[in-house]
Amino acid sequence: MPATARLLPGAPVAEAVLAETAAAVSALRERGVTPSLATILVGDDDASAGYIRIKQRQAADLGFTSPHEHLPANASQADLERAIDRFNTDPAVHGLLVQYPVPAHLDYDAALQRIDPDKDVDGMHPLNMGRLAVGLPGPLPCTPAGIEALLAYHQIPVAGREVVILGRGATLGRPLALLLAQKRPTANAAVTVVHTGVPDWPRYTRRAEILVAAAGVPGIIQPEHVRPGAVVIGAGVRYAGRRLLPDVDEACAEVAGAITPRVGGVGPTTVAMLFRNAVRAAQRASVAAPA
Ligand SMILES: NC(=O)c1ccc[n+]([C@@H]2O[C@H](COP(=O)([O-])OP(=O)(O)OC[C@H]3O[C@@H](n4cnc5c(N)ncnc54)[C@H](OP(=O)(O)O)[C@@H]3O)[C@@H](O)[C@H]2O)c1
Repeated sequence: MPATARLLPGAPVAEAVLAETAAAVSALRERGVTPSLATILVGDDDASAGYIRIKQRQAADLGFTSPHEHLPANASQADLERAIDRFNTDPAVHGLLVQYPVPAHLDYDAALQRIDPDKDVDGMHPLNMGRLAVGLPGPLPCTPAGIEALLAYHQIPVAGREVVILGRGATLGRPLALLLAQKRPTANAAVTVVHTGVPDWPRYTRRAEILVAAAGVPGIIQPEHVRPGAVVIGAGVRYAGRRLLPDVDEACAEVAGAITPRVGGVGPTTVAMLFRNAVRAAQRASVAAPA
C-alpha cells in the first residue's frame, strides 16, 4: 500500500525559529549586548564533540559568542562544577549547556542543577520544570517546545484535540504533556500519557488525534496503533552505532493523515529551540542589567 500521509518536516520550522532568533540577536547587538551561549564538554566522545561543533557553528551564524570549556575525560565533579560556576557568574554569558552525556563517573543531574536556571538553555533544570508546571515564564525544554512549534508551523490544530503521548520520560513525554495542556492557542489539548504501567496502551493511542511517540523503543508504534488520519509525531529514537532507529514504523505513513519524516522531523526543531532559549536569556539579562 502506498504511503499517503502528509510529511511534517522540521527544517522549515527550525529556519523560521532561527530567523526570529537572528533578528532578536541583531536588535540586542544594536543596543550593545552580544548574546553569548557557553558550552562545556567533558571527555573526547566524537559524537558529543560533533554536536558541540554544530552548536558553535550555529551560534556564530546567528551572531552569538560561544565561549567553550573542554574538560578532560578524567575531570572530577568539582572540576565540572567549577567550570559551570565560572560561566554562571560571568555576566557576559547568557546561556550555558553541559553536553550530554558526561563520563560515567560524573553526575549529570547534579551538574544540571548547578547551572543558573536563568542560563539553562536546555530548559531542563528542575526549577524550569517547576516553572513549566505552574505556567511561569522561563526556558522551555527544547524537544517539547520544538514539537509544539512543529505542530503550529504545519497548521495542525492542537486546542481541544486528543493528544496521546507514549512515554513519560523527564526530557520528553512528561514536559510535553505539561506544555500541550497549557491554556494557549497552540496547546490547550486533552492530553493522555501512557507508559509501561499501562499495558493496554494501544487502546489509548488508537483514539489519538495527535500521537507522539516518546518511548525510545524502535518500531514500537505500528500501523494498528494509529487512528486512521491521525497526526503522528515520531520523537523517540534509539541509535545502533550511527543508525537511527525510530519509535514509529515507516508503515504508519499508510494510516496516518500527517507524519514526521523518518529523519529531519523533531530533531532540527530541538536545536532551534536551544537558540531561542539563549536569545531570550540574553533579552531578560539585558533588561535586568541594561547595557
Ligand atoms: N528527537 C529529539 O530531539 C529527542 C530529544 C530528547 C529525547 N529524544 C528521544 O525520546 C525518547 C524518550 O526520551 P526520554 O529521555 O524521555 O526517555 P526515558 O526517560 O527512557 O522514557 C521513556 C518512556 O517510554 C516508556 N516506555 C518504554 N518502553 C515502553 C513500552 N514497551 N511500553 C510502553 N511505554 C514504554 C517508559 O515507560 P516507564 O516510565 O513506565 O518506564 C518511559 O516513560 C528517547 O528515544 C530519546 O532518544 C529525542
